[in-house]
Amino acid sequence: MARYAQIVGWGCYVPERVLTNRDLEGIIDTSDDWIFSRTGIRERRIATNPRETTATMATKAAAAALRVAGVSANEVDLIICSTSSPEHQFPATACLVQDALGAEHAGAFDLSAACSGFVYALTLARSMIATGAAQNVLVIGSETLSRIVDWSDRTTCVLFGDGAGAVLLSASEEPGGILASVLGSDGSGGELLSLPAGGSRMPTTLETVTGRQHYVKMDGAAVFRFATRIMATATREVVQKAGLTLDDIDLIIPHQANARIIESSVHRQLKIPREKIFINLERYGNTSTASIPLALCEAIESGRIKKNDHLVFVSFGAGLTWAATAIKWGAPVPVSQPKWWKEAQRQGAYGAARARSTVRRLLRKYDSLAEDIRVSEIELPERFRVLGLGKRGVKKHEQNGNE
Ligand code: COA
Repeated sequence: MARYAQIVGWGCYVPERVLTNRDLEGIIDTSDDWIFSRTGIRERRIATNPRETTATMATKAAAAALRVAGVSANEVDLIICSTSSPEHQFPATACLVQDALGAEHAGAFDLSAACSGFVYALTLARSMIATGAAQNVLVIGSETLSRIVDWSDRTTCVLFGDGAGAVLLSASEEPGGILASVLGSDGSGGELLSLPAGGSRMPTTLETVTGRQHYVKMDGAAVFRFATRIMATATREVVQKAGLTLDDIDLIIPHQANARIIESSVHRQLKIPREKIFINLERYGNTSTASIPLALCEAIESGRIKKNDHLVFVSFGAGLTWAATAIKWGAPVPVSQPKWWKEAQRQGAYGAARARSTVRRLLRKYDSLAEDIRVSEIELPERFRVLGLGKRGVKKHEQNGNE
């Protein structure tokens, strides 16, 4: 029997602090008029509390998605967190979310495809479900871009904001859900939008820090040209792949980078009427990979999506990357509110997950005293020593080499 990947839960989270264009006028040489007329952005949310991070926001969005779906964290098989502002280089932010949720049976990893990451992750989740490898997959887009933008660079800092969105995809026998996807990449444009330092190409040094190489760098005009072309092409392709026409589409949720890009690509080139295009970037700015799930949540809340609607999510970003997916919406909207005792049970499970995590951390500290595995007593088998990989073997090898 065919397995379909349906979005059955959704949730989002944005930090409390609102940073308006007028606020920015006091920080850099800019104006509300310039920002709004070039981008459509009026304000964005900023995580000013240092304890609020990509993982904490992702966890809140994911918990909300599980609540809507009525699925417990224990039933999740896989957590994919798409982000360009991860908690660390490693461990993956997704693992921290797994721990915070107490998703004891879930694999977890981060996905790096910049602003296209959420749609990439949806595509991957759909494949896992279709092949029977997973039943429930949490797909999260979460960003604290305010920590990686250069607040002295007016050409970039006015564009971005923080936030997180998540959906739960579940296997279903009901035809629909994610119908088709288009993923693309053109690495020759990598330098158009990047965070240059901190990786293997440019490891962190005093020079990279003083040279502000750990912040987002962008050629705005080139990205703009690329985006307007690719959003239209990717939408056309995915609609065709799904066996639909543009007229069949009830709502397009484009990546919320710039209202002019959306206007030029989705409205003018594809001739999609404005009422079929969902835009909320005025209040959040560009939240990168979080922008589509954030917009999805608001579209649902405002009654713009109903069962059996055909949707398209389309995105572009650093890489360069692009991605689009066509969806036949299967979940009822609005969803019924969970019973109070179910909610209490859910909160209790998160409390237990926190306690379990603390206990595990403590136990790991004493793990070195464990009787069963003593690292110093484990010797390599003979064949490795002959190859020169064992302690004694290395010495032997060095001696041979010196002869
Ligand atoms: N406030 C005031 N002036 C600003 C400014 C700001 N925040 N940022 C740049 N400017 C100035 C520039 O210094 C430049 O001045 P100059 O002509 O004297 O050198 C001028 O504005 C550039 O203006 P313009 O050419 O009209 O800008 P634009 O129409 O290309 O808009 C962007 C700039 C960044 C808004 C636009 O290129 C864009 O949105 N690009 C795509 C970026 C994007 O979406 N990135 C994310 C991808 S996921």
